[in-house]
Amino acid sequence: MMDSQIQKQTVWCIVNGETVEREVEPRLLLSDFIRYELGLTGTHVGCEHGVCGACTILVEGKSMRSCLMLAIQAQGLEIQTVESIGKLKHLHPLQESFREHHGLQCGFCTPGFLMTAIDMAQSGKTFTREELKEALSGNLCRCTGYQGIMNAVAHYFEQIGILRISVKKGS
Ligand code: FES
Ligand code: FES
Repeated sequence: MMDSQIQKQTVWCIVNGETVEREVEPRLLLSDFIRYELGLTGTHVGCEHGVCGACTILVEGKSMRSCLMLAIQAQGLEIQTVESIGKLKHLHPLQESFREHHGLQCGFCTPGFLMTAIDMAQSGKTFTREELKEALSGNLCRCTGYQGIMNAVAHYFEQIGILRISVKKGS
């Protein structure tokens, strides 16, 4: 079947507080919908296999790899992309912390780390540095060596009161 013959479907969802509706092919990935239909290019696409985490967004408040969902599966759902958390002239405190702690170099992985950390911050849990490292381990970065990213997230979690001091066994 030629591409032009594929039956399109209507999908609507709420993206960064605004209701959007588009006619899309059923096979369109949510990541491509966000980038190419909505022009929200802050969501990056790396592996397209759910491995790198660059495409992480919030769906109904929970972090989700947008390359593992179809656009039509987002029907009626609330979505937040990195564009919703801060603006260039008014960064989110977590973004400020990334800047302060050298949490990025090329920045390709950054939106995914930010959205994962926002989900953790909204989870109602507290984290030790070790738990934080474990929770962020599903996101890959090719540049930083991770230390700056961990320090940036830890600093933000400390600011908002959810960083726990880890107590070593036997101490
Ligand atoms: S692009 Fe989605 S996890 Fe890599
Ligand atoms: S800053 Fe380049 S991939 Fe993470």
